[in-house]
Amino acid sequence: MFDSLAIRRQFPILRQQIDGKPLIYLDSAATAQKPQPVLDRMQQFYQEENANVHRGMHVLAERATIAYESARETVKKFLNAPHTEEILFTKSCTEAINLVAKSWGKSNLHKGDRVVLSVLEHHSNIVPWLQLKDEIGIEIKWVGIDDHGQFRVDQFVDIMDNGGVCAVAVTAQSNVLGTSPPLKEIITKAHDHGAVVLVDAAQSVSHHLTDVQDLDCDFLAFSGHKLYGPTGIGVLYGKRNLLQSMPPFLGGGMMIQEVHQDRFTPADIPQKFEAGTPAIAEAVGLAGAIEWIGQFSWNDIEKHEQSLLTVARESLQSVTGLKILGPSSHVSGCISFTINGIHPHDLTEILGRQGICLRAGHHCTQPLHRRLGVIASTRLSVGIYNVKEEMTAVAIAVTEAAKKLSL
Ligand SMILES: Cc1ncc(COP(=O)(O)O)c(C=O)c1O
Repeated sequence: MFDSLAIRRQFPILRQQIDGKPLIYLDSAATAQKPQPVLDRMQQFYQEENANVHRGMHVLAERATIAYESARETVKKFLNAPHTEEILFTKSCTEAINLVAKSWGKSNLHKGDRVVLSVLEHHSNIVPWLQLKDEIGIEIKWVGIDDHGQFRVDQFVDIMDNGGVCAVAVTAQSNVLGTSPPLKEIITKAHDHGAVVLVDAAQSVSHHLTDVQDLDCDFLAFSGHKLYGPTGIGVLYGKRNLLQSMPPFLGGGMMIQEVHQDRFTPADIPQKFEAGTPAIAEAVGLAGAIEWIGQFSWNDIEKHEQSLLTVARESLQSVTGLKILGPSSHVSGCISFTINGIHPHDLTEILGRQGICLRAGHHCTQPLHRRLGVIASTRLSVGIYNVKEEMTAVAIAVTEAAKKLSL
């Protein structure tokens, strides 16, 4: 049974009170809190298994290597990837996207080649491509959104049919509007035109099942910390033939077969892309988080989070001057809004003092905010541990804060 209060009790950080009131954490799109089993797993690693991986022959080196490589296996199963070596550990989703842009991009793209992005993208899936535009002269083609915040499939089709597109890099879920582009349709169309597709799953991965074989994407990136795991660990899934053909992204220890004074030969995947000491305890912690979330069904998680967003939406609508950005249905994970005449930073500062954690700003999506005609917004984002009472409490606090700020 899905018992949201029992789930919440597994998150020690949420037990605290701020000013005599329970902490209300609604910033999971920025980073999610960690359940006790994830904290325990990392502590156990440091207390019983810690050593560097793939290097030593001693008992701890063996334990650490087993823990690290079984974390890779756990991620492989989680994503339903066909092969374990298709899972690369990175520092973050951002680094995973940079790896694709800098390694695949630099070795496959030439001046004038087109890369398609959507206006929904996070800066992490924009800036690495803008860097390639500056460095090698690729052309970026933008897919817009309609007035309901949905990905413009018609524009995407036109761009693809016009030709010259080598890659499509698209979010699985907007971190502002909560909308999701139709990934399967996008990927099929891109493949029909010989383009590779990178999916930025940073937001979607904690709210929905992720199946790279079903999607047939070429690359998929996410961060552990938004999936109830630790910071400092990210994942890049890549199709084996692509990863094998790509040059290393970073150089250093453990990513080589041989080093001479004038040359080196890289190791096979995945080691080729994991230079230096990796984030070992963090990979183990991420596996702990994946195992922890695996005890729930995605259907239950989706139902629970949808009911939270419905209550939040209904409660917030009564706040004078409040406008919810994006559509009123088919959104997941978050709701962003503006209030006439009130700056989101002022609002979230007042709420923050009461222990209510919302995020204000452009949420690393300036092109999207420009398209929406606002500079900044306030975002409420939910996780598995939130409860309906928090949604109504937030709406009351927003109403009071807005009244105070408009005096
Ligand atoms: C859609 C999306 N992509 C990428 C990122 C970057 O994630 P990270 O900062 O963990 O690398 C974020 C972070 O908020 C995001 O929301």
